[in-house]
Amino acid sequence: MKSKTNFVCQQCGTTSAKWLGQCPNCKAWNSFIEQIAETETEKKSALEKGKLSGKKLAYENIKSISPSDTKERLKTEFKDLNTVLGGGILAGSVNLLAGQPGIGKSTLLMQICAEVAKTKKVLYISGEESAGQVKLRAERLGADADNLNFASSTSGNDIAKTIESAEFDLVIVDSIQTLAMDEISSAPGTVSQVTNCGNLIIRAAKATGTAVVIVGHVTKDGTLAGPKTLEHLVDVVLNFEGDRYGGFKTVRAVKNRFGGTNEVAIFEMNEKGLKEVQNPSAALLAERQNTDGSIILATMEGNRPILVEIQALATTTTYGYPKRTASGFDLNRLNLLIAVIERRTKLKLSDKDIFINVVGGMKLSDSAADLAVCLAIASAVAKRKLDDSYVVFGEVGLGGEIRSAFRADQRIAEAKKLGFTHAIAPAATKDKFVIPVKDLRETLIKYVK
Ligand code: TYD
Ligand code: MG
Repeated sequence: MKSKTNFVCQQCGTTSAKWLGQCPNCKAWNSFIEQIAETETEKKSALEKGKLSGKKLAYENIKSISPSDTKERLKTEFKDLNTVLGGGILAGSVNLLAGQPGIGKSTLLMQICAEVAKTKKVLYISGEESAGQVKLRAERLGADADNLNFASSTSGNDIAKTIESAEFDLVIVDSIQTLAMDEISSAPGTVSQVTNCGNLIIRAAKATGTAVVIVGHVTKDGTLAGPKTLEHLVDVVLNFEGDRYGGFKTVRAVKNRFGGTNEVAIFEMNEKGLKEVQNPSAALLAERQNTDGSIILATMEGNRPILVEIQALATTTTYGYPKRTASGFDLNRLNLLIAVIERRTKLKLSDKDIFINVVGGMKLSDSAADLAVCLAIASAVAKRKLDDSYVVFGEVGLGGEIRSAFRADQRIAEAKKLGFTHAIAPAATKDKFVIPVKDLRETLIKYVK
Protein backbone atom coordinates (compact mmCIF):
# COMPACT_ATOMS: atom_id res chain seq x y z
CA MET A 1 0.00 0.00 0.00
CA LYS A 2 1.24 3.47 -0.85
CA SER A 3 1.26 5.62 2.26
CA LYS A 4 -0.51 8.97 2.19
CA THR A 5 1.37 12.22 2.27
CA ASN A 6 0.44 15.68 3.34
CA PHE A 7 2.15 19.06 3.50
CA VAL A 8 3.39 20.58 6.72
CA CYS A 9 4.43 24.19 7.33
CA GLN A 10 8.04 24.08 8.59
CA GLN A 11 7.50 27.27 10.58
CA CYS A 12 4.34 26.58 12.58
CA GLY A 13 3.35 22.97 11.83
CA THR A 14 0.04 23.68 10.07
CA THR A 15 -0.88 20.74 7.84
CA SER A 16 -2.62 20.78 4.50
CA ALA A 17 -3.57 18.17 1.92
CA LYS A 18 -2.31 20.41 -0.89
CA TRP A 19 0.87 22.39 -1.28
CA LEU A 20 0.34 26.07 -0.44
CA GLY A 21 2.54 29.00 -1.37
CA GLN A 22 1.78 30.87 1.83
CA CYS A 23 0.87 29.41 5.20
CA PRO A 24 -2.65 30.54 6.16
CA ASN A 25 -1.71 30.41 9.82
CA CYS A 26 1.73 32.03 10.18
CA LYS A 27 1.84 33.72 6.74
CA ALA A 28 5.28 32.32 5.95
CA TRP A 29 6.02 31.89 2.26
CA ASN A 30 7.26 28.65 0.68
CA SER A 31 7.24 26.87 4.00
CA PHE A 32 5.17 23.81 3.06
CA ILE A 33 7.06 20.56 2.73
CA GLU A 34 5.69 17.18 1.80
CA GLN A 35 5.80 14.53 4.51
CA ILE A 36 4.53 11.03 4.96
CA ALA A 37 1.24 11.38 6.84
CA GLU A 38 0.60 9.52 10.09
CA THR A 39 -2.25 7.07 9.81
CA GLU A 40 -5.38 7.67 11.89
CA THR A 41 -4.57 4.83 14.27
CA GLU A 42 -1.08 6.14 14.86
CA LYS A 43 -2.52 9.53 15.74
CA LYS A 44 -5.13 8.05 18.07
CA SER A 45 -2.65 6.05 20.02
CA ALA A 46 -0.68 9.12 20.91
CA LEU A 47 -3.42 11.66 21.36
CA GLU A 48 -6.54 9.93 22.65
CA LYS A 49 -5.12 7.60 25.22
CA GLY A 50 -3.64 10.53 27.06
CA LYS A 51 -1.14 8.07 28.45
CA LEU A 52 2.58 8.32 27.95
CA SER A 53 3.72 5.60 25.63
CA GLY A 54 7.42 5.95 26.47
CA LYS A 55 9.40 4.00 29.03
CA LYS A 56 12.04 5.00 31.53
CA LEU A 57 15.43 5.30 29.85
CA ALA A 58 18.10 2.76 30.63
CA TYR A 59 21.21 4.69 31.62
CA GLU A 60 24.76 3.79 32.41
CA ASN A 61 27.65 5.42 34.18
CA ILE A 62 29.79 7.40 31.78
CA LYS A 63 32.93 5.69 33.08
CA SER A 64 31.69 2.30 31.99
CA ILE A 65 30.80 3.33 28.45
CA SER A 66 33.28 2.16 25.85
CA PRO A 67 34.12 5.06 23.56
CA SER A 68 32.89 4.82 20.00
CA ASP A 69 36.45 5.43 18.90
CA THR A 70 37.22 1.81 19.67
CA LYS A 71 35.11 1.11 16.60
CA GLU A 72 36.99 0.45 13.46
CA ARG A 73 38.06 3.28 11.19
CA LEU A 74 38.38 2.70 7.48
CA LYS A 75 41.62 4.30 6.34
CA THR A 76 41.79 6.11 3.03
CA GLU A 77 45.03 6.27 1.09
CA PHE A 78 45.22 9.98 1.92
CA LYS A 79 47.07 10.71 5.14
CA ASP A 80 45.76 14.24 5.63
CA LEU A 81 42.22 13.26 4.73
CA ASN A 82 42.35 10.59 7.43
CA THR A 83 43.34 13.30 9.89
CA VAL A 84 40.47 15.52 8.70
CA LEU A 85 38.10 12.61 9.32
CA GLY A 86 39.55 12.13 12.80
CA GLY A 87 41.51 8.99 11.88
CA GLY A 88 39.50 7.53 9.00
CA ILE A 89 35.86 6.81 8.19
CA LEU A 90 34.24 5.45 11.32
CA ALA A 91 32.11 2.31 11.00
CA GLY A 92 28.42 3.24 11.23
CA SER A 93 29.06 6.90 10.55
CA VAL A 94 27.26 8.89 7.89
CA ASN A 95 29.46 11.39 6.11
CA LEU A 96 28.38 14.11 3.72
CA LEU A 97 30.84 15.21 1.04
CA ALA A 98 29.71 18.56 -0.31
CA GLY A 99 31.16 20.46 -3.23
CA GLN A 100 30.46 22.17 -6.53
CA PRO A 101 29.76 20.01 -9.56
CA GLY A 102 32.99 19.03 -11.28
CA ILE A 103 35.31 19.66 -8.34
CA GLY A 104 36.23 15.96 -8.05
CA LYS A 105 33.88 14.38 -5.51
CA SER A 106 33.26 11.23 -7.53
CA THR A 107 36.97 10.96 -8.29
CA LEU A 108 37.96 11.26 -4.63
CA LEU A 109 35.38 8.70 -3.54
CA MET A 110 36.39 6.21 -6.22
CA GLN A 111 39.99 6.49 -5.01
CA ILE A 112 38.87 5.98 -1.41
CA CYS A 113 36.79 2.96 -2.45
CA ALA A 114 39.71 1.43 -4.31
CA GLU A 115 41.86 1.58 -1.17
CA VAL A 116 39.21 0.41 1.29
CA ALA A 117 38.13 -2.42 -1.03
CA LYS A 118 41.55 -4.04 -0.65
CA THR A 119 40.42 -5.32 2.73
CA LYS A 120 36.69 -4.55 3.01
CA LYS A 121 33.55 -4.95 0.96
CA VAL A 122 32.56 -1.73 -0.74
CA LEU A 123 29.53 -0.65 -2.79
CA TYR A 124 29.51 2.44 -4.98
CA ILE A 125 25.97 3.55 -5.83
CA SER A 126 25.58 6.17 -8.51
CA GLY A 127 22.39 7.86 -9.59
CA GLU A 128 24.23 10.14 -11.97
CA GLU A 129 26.47 7.97 -14.06
CA SER A 130 26.05 4.65 -15.84
CA ALA A 131 28.06 1.56 -14.97
CA GLY A 132 30.12 2.11 -18.11
CA GLN A 133 31.07 5.64 -17.14
CA VAL A 134 32.02 4.63 -13.63
CA LYS A 135 34.07 1.73 -14.96
CA LEU A 136 35.93 4.09 -17.23
CA ARG A 137 36.83 6.31 -14.31
CA ALA A 138 37.75 3.36 -12.10
CA GLU A 139 40.10 2.09 -14.80
CA ARG A 140 41.70 5.46 -15.17
CA LEU A 141 42.29 5.63 -11.43
CA GLY A 142 43.60 2.07 -11.33
CA ALA A 143 40.79 0.88 -9.07
CA ASP A 144 40.34 -2.84 -9.63
CA ALA A 145 40.04 -4.40 -6.17
CA ASP A 146 38.01 -7.60 -5.91
CA ASN A 147 35.64 -6.22 -3.31
CA LEU A 148 34.64 -3.08 -5.14
CA ASN A 149 31.05 -3.29 -6.38
CA PHE A 150 28.82 -0.95 -8.32
CA ALA A 151 25.09 -0.36 -8.49
CA SER A 152 23.07 2.24 -10.31
CA SER A 153 19.99 3.52 -8.49
CA THR A 154 17.96 6.62 -7.74
CA SER A 155 15.61 4.98 -5.26
CA GLY A 156 16.05 6.02 -1.62
CA ASN A 157 14.10 2.96 -0.53
CA ASP A 158 16.23 0.49 -2.49
CA ILE A 159 19.47 2.06 -1.29
CA ALA A 160 18.38 2.01 2.37
CA LYS A 161 17.32 -1.64 1.97
CA THR A 162 20.68 -2.50 0.46
CA ILE A 163 22.56 -0.85 3.32
CA GLU A 164 20.30 -2.67 5.76
CA SER A 165 21.46 -5.99 4.35
CA ALA A 166 24.73 -5.33 6.25
CA GLU A 167 26.63 -6.89 3.39
CA PHE A 168 28.95 -3.93 2.92
CA ASP A 169 31.43 -2.14 5.15
CA LEU A 170 31.36 1.05 3.11
CA VAL A 171 28.62 2.40 0.86
CA ILE A 172 28.93 5.50 -1.33
CA VAL A 173 25.76 7.31 -2.41
CA ASP A 174 26.48 9.61 -5.36
CA SER A 175 24.48 11.86 -5.06
CA ILE A 176 21.67 12.67 -2.61
CA GLN A 177 20.15 15.10 -5.13
CA THR A 178 19.29 12.28 -7.53
CA LEU A 179 17.38 10.21 -4.99
CA ALA A 180 13.63 9.89 -4.56
CA MET A 181 11.40 7.95 -2.19
CA ASP A 182 8.34 6.09 -3.44
CA GLU A 183 6.10 7.61 -0.76
CA ILE A 184 6.81 11.21 -1.74
CA SER A 185 5.70 12.70 -5.02
CA SER A 186 7.97 15.75 -5.20
CA ALA A 187 10.94 15.80 -7.56
CA PRO A 188 14.43 14.52 -6.66
CA GLY A 189 16.58 17.21 -5.10
CA THR A 190 13.76 18.95 -3.24
CA VAL A 191 14.06 19.45 0.49
CA SER A 192 11.47 16.80 1.31
CA GLN A 193 13.13 14.13 -0.87
CA VAL A 194 16.59 14.97 0.39
CA THR A 195 15.68 14.92 4.09
CA ASN A 196 13.48 11.84 3.91
CA CYS A 197 15.93 9.82 1.80
CA GLY A 198 18.75 11.04 4.05
CA ASN A 199 16.89 9.86 7.11
CA LEU A 200 16.22 6.42 5.64
CA ILE A 201 19.88 5.98 4.75
CA ILE A 202 21.08 7.20 8.14
CA ARG A 203 18.76 4.82 9.95
CA ALA A 204 19.96 1.89 7.88
CA ALA A 205 23.62 2.84 8.40
CA LYS A 206 23.24 3.15 12.19
CA ALA A 207 21.30 -0.08 12.47
CA THR A 208 23.98 -2.10 10.70
CA GLY A 209 27.18 -0.21 11.49
CA THR A 210 27.80 0.45 7.81
CA ALA A 211 29.94 3.46 6.98
CA VAL A 212 28.21 5.66 4.42
CA VAL A 213 29.44 8.61 2.40
CA ILE A 214 26.74 10.73 0.77
CA VAL A 215 27.62 13.19 -1.99
CA GLY A 216 25.83 16.55 -1.98
CA HIS A 217 26.13 19.24 -4.64
CA VAL A 218 26.37 22.81 -3.51
CA THR A 219 25.27 25.95 -5.27
CA LYS A 220 27.70 28.57 -6.43
CA ASP A 221 27.53 30.59 -3.21
CA GLY A 222 28.63 27.53 -1.29
CA THR A 223 25.42 26.50 0.40
CA LEU A 224 24.14 22.97 0.12
CA ALA A 225 21.28 23.15 -2.34
CA GLY A 226 18.32 21.47 -0.69
CA PRO A 227 20.28 19.33 1.72
CA LYS A 228 21.10 22.08 4.22
CA THR A 229 18.88 20.20 6.61
CA LEU A 230 21.01 17.13 6.01
CA GLU A 231 23.94 18.82 7.72
CA HIS A 232 22.18 18.43 11.05
CA LEU A 233 21.42 14.77 10.52
CA VAL A 234 24.78 13.40 9.43
CA ASP A 235 27.85 12.83 11.63
CA VAL A 236 30.47 14.46 9.45
CA VAL A 237 30.20 17.22 6.86
CA LEU A 238 33.19 17.57 4.55
CA ASN A 239 33.47 20.58 2.27
CA PHE A 240 35.36 20.15 -0.96
CA GLU A 241 36.41 23.59 -2.19
CA GLY A 242 38.72 25.26 -4.63
CA ASP A 243 39.14 25.96 -8.28
CA ARG A 244 37.41 23.59 -10.65
CA TYR A 245 40.10 24.12 -13.24
CA GLY A 246 43.57 23.47 -11.88
CA GLY A 247 44.92 24.90 -8.67
CA PHE A 248 44.61 23.43 -5.22
CA LYS A 249 41.49 21.94 -3.81
CA THR A 250 40.88 21.60 -0.10
CA VAL A 251 38.80 19.20 1.93
CA ARG A 252 37.91 20.31 5.42
CA ALA A 253 35.41 19.14 8.00
CA VAL A 254 32.85 21.79 8.88
CA LYS A 255 31.24 19.36 11.27
CA ASN A 256 32.71 16.24 12.81
CA ARG A 257 31.15 14.30 15.64
CA PHE A 258 34.25 12.11 15.91
CA GLY A 259 37.09 14.58 15.50
CA GLY A 260 38.14 18.20 15.22
CA THR A 261 37.23 20.65 12.51
CA ASN A 262 40.56 22.42 12.24
CA GLU A 263 42.38 20.10 9.91
CA VAL A 264 42.53 20.43 6.17
CA ALA A 265 43.67 18.18 3.33
CA ILE A 266 45.03 19.81 0.19
CA PHE A 267 44.69 18.09 -3.17
CA GLU A 268 45.77 18.53 -6.74
CA MET A 269 44.04 16.87 -9.70
CA ASN A 270 46.06 15.21 -12.44
CA GLU A 271 45.32 12.57 -15.06
CA LYS A 272 45.67 9.84 -12.41
CA GLY A 273 43.09 11.43 -10.12
CA LEU A 274 43.59 13.41 -6.94
CA LYS A 275 46.92 13.60 -5.14
CA GLU A 276 47.62 15.04 -1.74
CA VAL A 277 49.99 18.00 -1.76
CA GLN A 278 52.51 17.47 1.00
CA ASN A 279 54.36 20.76 0.82
CA PRO A 280 51.86 23.34 -0.42
CA SER A 281 54.02 26.37 0.44
CA ALA A 282 56.87 25.29 -1.80
CA ALA A 283 54.48 24.46 -4.64
CA LEU A 284 52.66 27.76 -4.28
CA LEU A 285 55.85 29.79 -4.34
CA ALA A 286 57.61 27.85 -7.10
CA GLU A 287 56.54 30.14 -9.94
CA ARG A 288 56.79 33.41 -8.11
CA GLN A 289 58.16 36.50 -9.85
CA ASN A 290 58.83 39.26 -7.42
CA THR A 291 57.09 42.15 -9.13
CA ASP A 292 55.36 45.10 -7.53
CA GLY A 293 52.02 44.13 -6.02
CA SER A 294 53.31 40.71 -4.97
CA ILE A 295 53.40 39.90 -1.26
CA ILE A 296 53.98 36.58 0.50
CA LEU A 297 51.46 35.98 3.23
CA ALA A 298 52.06 33.49 6.03
CA THR A 299 48.56 32.17 6.56
CA MET A 300 46.86 29.25 8.29
CA GLU A 301 44.73 26.64 6.57
CA GLY A 302 43.09 24.99 9.52
CA ASN A 303 46.00 23.79 11.64
CA ARG A 304 48.52 24.08 8.83
CA PRO A 305 50.71 27.08 8.16
CA ILE A 306 50.97 27.91 4.44
CA LEU A 307 52.86 30.57 2.56
CA VAL A 308 50.85 31.97 -0.30
CA GLU A 309 51.43 34.79 -2.74
CA ILE A 310 48.95 37.66 -2.82
CA GLN A 311 48.95 39.70 -5.99
CA ALA A 312 47.46 43.14 -6.46
CA LEU A 313 47.04 45.04 -9.69
CA ALA A 314 46.06 48.70 -9.80
CA THR A 315 45.05 50.49 -12.99
CA THR A 316 43.59 53.92 -13.57
CA THR A 317 39.82 53.87 -13.71
CA THR A 318 38.56 54.66 -17.19
CA TYR A 319 34.92 55.09 -16.23
CA GLY A 320 33.76 57.14 -13.27
CA TYR A 321 33.29 54.30 -10.83
CA PRO A 322 36.40 52.37 -9.66
CA LYS A 323 36.22 48.60 -9.99
CA ARG A 324 37.32 46.22 -7.23
CA THR A 325 37.69 42.51 -7.84
CA ALA A 326 38.96 39.76 -5.57
CA SER A 327 39.69 36.14 -6.33
CA GLY A 328 40.27 33.97 -3.28
CA PHE A 329 39.64 36.87 -0.90
CA ASP A 330 36.39 38.30 0.47
CA LEU A 331 35.29 41.30 -1.60
CA ASN A 332 33.62 43.04 1.35
CA ARG A 333 36.82 42.74 3.32
CA LEU A 334 38.76 44.16 0.36
CA ASN A 335 36.44 47.17 0.16
CA LEU A 336 36.83 47.70 3.88
CA LEU A 337 40.63 47.57 3.67
CA ILE A 338 40.62 50.02 0.75
CA ALA A 339 38.51 52.40 2.86
CA VAL A 340 40.98 52.05 5.75
CA ILE A 341 43.95 52.75 3.44
CA GLU A 342 42.22 55.84 2.00
CA ARG A 343 41.27 57.22 5.39
CA ARG A 344 44.40 56.36 7.40
CA THR A 345 47.21 56.80 4.87
CA LYS A 346 47.98 59.27 2.13
CA LEU A 347 47.49 56.73 -0.64
CA LYS A 348 44.72 57.77 -3.08
CA LEU A 349 42.73 54.88 -4.46
CA SER A 350 39.50 56.55 -5.57
CA ASP A 351 40.62 56.65 -9.23
CA LYS A 352 42.11 53.14 -9.25
CA ASP A 353 40.64 49.85 -10.35
CA ILE A 354 42.03 47.28 -7.92
CA PHE A 355 42.30 43.54 -8.49
CA ILE A 356 43.41 41.06 -5.85
CA ASN A 357 44.39 37.49 -6.63
CA VAL A 358 45.40 34.72 -4.26
CA VAL A 359 47.73 32.45 -6.22
CA GLY A 360 47.02 28.74 -6.56
CA GLY A 361 43.24 28.91 -6.23
CA MET A 362 43.43 29.15 -2.45
CA LYS A 363 40.48 30.73 -0.67
CA LEU A 364 41.58 32.78 2.34
CA SER A 365 39.47 32.99 5.44
CA ASP A 366 42.21 34.30 7.70
CA SER A 367 41.88 37.77 9.23
CA ALA A 368 45.67 37.97 9.36
CA ALA A 369 45.66 38.27 5.56
CA ASP A 370 44.66 41.96 5.89
CA LEU A 371 48.15 43.40 6.19
CA ALA A 372 49.43 41.42 3.21
CA VAL A 373 46.51 42.63 1.07
CA CYS A 374 47.11 46.26 2.11
CA LEU A 375 50.81 45.97 1.37
CA ALA A 376 50.10 44.37 -2.00
CA ILE A 377 47.77 47.23 -2.93
CA ALA A 378 50.27 49.86 -1.77
CA SER A 379 53.09 48.11 -3.58
CA ALA A 380 51.05 47.95 -6.82
CA VAL A 381 49.98 51.59 -6.63
CA ALA A 382 53.42 52.90 -5.69
CA LYS A 383 55.09 50.49 -8.16
CA ARG A 384 57.56 49.51 -5.46
CA LYS A 385 58.52 46.01 -4.44
CA LEU A 386 58.78 44.63 -0.96
CA ASP A 387 62.06 42.91 -0.08
CA ASP A 388 61.64 39.36 -1.44
CA SER A 389 62.91 37.70 1.70
CA TYR A 390 60.02 39.07 3.76
CA VAL A 391 56.74 37.41 4.61
CA VAL A 392 53.78 39.32 6.02
CA PHE A 393 50.89 38.63 8.37
CA GLY A 394 48.62 40.63 10.68
CA GLU A 395 45.09 41.93 10.96
CA VAL A 396 44.30 45.56 10.15
CA GLY A 397 41.76 47.41 12.30
CA LEU A 398 39.53 50.25 11.19
CA GLY A 399 41.86 52.74 12.87
CA GLY A 400 44.73 51.51 10.74
CA GLU A 401 46.24 49.69 13.71
CA ILE A 402 47.94 46.31 13.15
CA ARG A 403 46.45 43.65 15.37
CA SER A 404 47.96 40.39 16.51
CA ALA A 405 47.43 37.14 14.63
CA PHE A 406 46.84 33.70 16.12
CA ARG A 407 49.48 30.98 15.75
CA ALA A 408 52.23 33.45 14.95
CA ASP A 409 54.87 30.88 15.94
CA GLN A 410 53.68 28.38 13.35
CA ARG A 411 53.58 31.01 10.62
CA ILE A 412 57.12 32.07 11.48
CA ALA A 413 58.37 28.48 11.53
CA GLU A 414 56.98 27.86 8.05
CA ALA A 415 58.58 31.05 6.72
CA LYS A 416 61.95 30.05 8.19
CA LYS A 417 61.65 26.61 6.67
CA LEU A 418 61.25 28.11 3.21
CA GLY A 419 64.24 30.40 3.57
CA PHE A 420 62.66 33.75 4.36
CA THR A 421 64.65 36.04 6.65
CA HIS A 422 62.03 38.30 8.20
CA ALA A 423 58.32 38.68 8.85
CA ILE A 424 56.51 42.00 8.87
CA ALA A 425 54.12 41.23 11.67
CA PRO A 426 52.15 42.74 14.57
CA ALA A 427 54.31 44.26 17.31
CA ALA A 428 52.77 41.90 19.83
CA THR A 429 54.63 38.98 18.19
CA LYS A 430 57.75 38.33 20.21
CA ASP A 431 60.34 36.79 17.94
CA LYS A 432 63.69 37.91 16.55
CA PHE A 433 62.48 36.98 13.08
CA VAL A 434 59.79 39.65 13.24
CA ILE A 435 59.98 43.26 12.12
CA PRO A 436 57.32 44.58 14.47
CA VAL A 437 54.76 47.05 13.08
CA LYS A 438 51.98 48.89 14.88
CA ASP A 439 50.33 51.14 12.37
CA LEU A 440 49.40 50.78 8.70
CA ARG A 441 50.60 54.24 7.63
CA GLU A 442 54.05 53.81 9.16
CA THR A 443 54.35 50.35 7.63
CA LEU A 444 53.51 51.57 4.13
CA ILE A 445 55.87 54.53 4.38
CA LYS A 446 58.72 52.40 5.66
CA TYR A 447 58.49 49.33 3.46
CA VAL A 448 56.86 50.28 0.16
CA LYS A 449 57.67 53.90 -0.37
P1 TYD B 1 34.31 14.44 -10.87
O1 TYD B 1 34.93 13.60 -9.82
O2 TYD B 1 33.36 13.75 -11.79
O3 TYD B 1 33.58 15.69 -10.20
P2 TYD B 1 32.23 15.72 -9.30
O4 TYD B 1 31.86 14.33 -8.94
O5 TYD B 1 32.59 16.56 -8.10
O6 TYD B 1 31.18 16.40 -10.10
O7 TYD B 1 35.53 15.04 -11.74
C1 TYD B 1 35.82 16.38 -11.89
C2 TYD B 1 36.76 16.64 -13.03
O8 TYD B 1 38.00 16.04 -12.82
C3 TYD B 1 36.28 16.14 -14.36
O9 TYD B 1 35.95 17.26 -15.16
C4 TYD B 1 37.44 15.43 -14.99
C5 TYD B 1 38.57 15.64 -14.05
N1 TYD B 1 39.42 14.45 -13.86
C6 TYD B 1 40.79 14.54 -14.01
O10 TYD B 1 41.34 15.60 -14.33
N2 TYD B 1 41.57 13.43 -13.77
C7 TYD B 1 41.02 12.24 -13.42
O11 TYD B 1 41.75 11.25 -13.22
C8 TYD B 1 39.60 12.16 -13.28
C9 TYD B 1 38.93 10.86 -12.91
C10 TYD B 1 38.84 13.28 -13.49
MG1 MG C 1 30.14 13.25 -9.62
